[in-house]
Amino acid sequence: MLTSDVKTLRVVVLISGSGSNLQALIDGVASGELPIEITAVISNRPGVLGLSRAEEAGIPTLVLDHKGFASRADFDRELMRTIDAYNPGLIVLAGFMRILTPEFTRHYQGRMLNIHPSLLPKFQGLHTHQRAIDAGEITHGVTVHFVTAELDGGPAIVQAVVPVLAGDDAGLLAKRVQRQEHIIYPLAVKWFAQGKLRMLDGRAELNGELLPACGYQIEANQP
Ligand code: GRF
Repeated sequence: MLTSDVKTLRVVVLISGSGSNLQALIDGVASGELPIEITAVISNRPGVLGLSRAEEAGIPTLVLDHKGFASRADFDRELMRTIDAYNPGLIVLAGFMRILTPEFTRHYQGRMLNIHPSLLPKFQGLHTHQRAIDAGEITHGVTVHFVTAELDGGPAIVQAVVPVLAGDDAGLLAKRVQRQEHIIYPLAVKWFAQGKLRMLDGRAELNGELLPACGYQIEANQP
């Protein structure tokens, strides 16, 4: 048996806010579903709910407030130093609301994931739910992708598609999308931890096969 060779993946999670995606990962670890150890949670904003969630789970937390730095590059360099002290195999951006420098994204290329609340490449950037409604989309959703220097532009790993329903406002649609976020982010992290997922030549590969540009697609028809 080679099972003794299987190592638990060390993961650092970066947040800026409520941390519901972080909670989904914490729950996945607690249930035994996720073969990872969340070694630290780092927030660029003090006092956010995600920090309390981590503390509750006994995970070390750190606040690195970007406001205390003269430039984006200075902040990113300090953030890199802070992350690397935990020697992680994977960096998970979970609602981390910062534009990252190319130096930072290059450093973690192939081992940093992000979740974006749209069916990328549609609706990169902010206010995705309102923009999907305004554009008259009949479906919307969420994408987990590898992070590259291009904002919300790295190779897609998995997408969950939800319907846009008559009478939806941005809040209702966001809730429907978030339910899927909490399913597909742990799934992608699990694939990575199991060694099934990697980034190769700018594409995502799952189980040795290149994924389509939209990643592995899951239709979630329940409202
Ligand atoms: C999520 O909607 C995620 O898609 C986006 O930021 C939000 C974070 O939510 N990147 P939470 O902090 O995980 O609750």
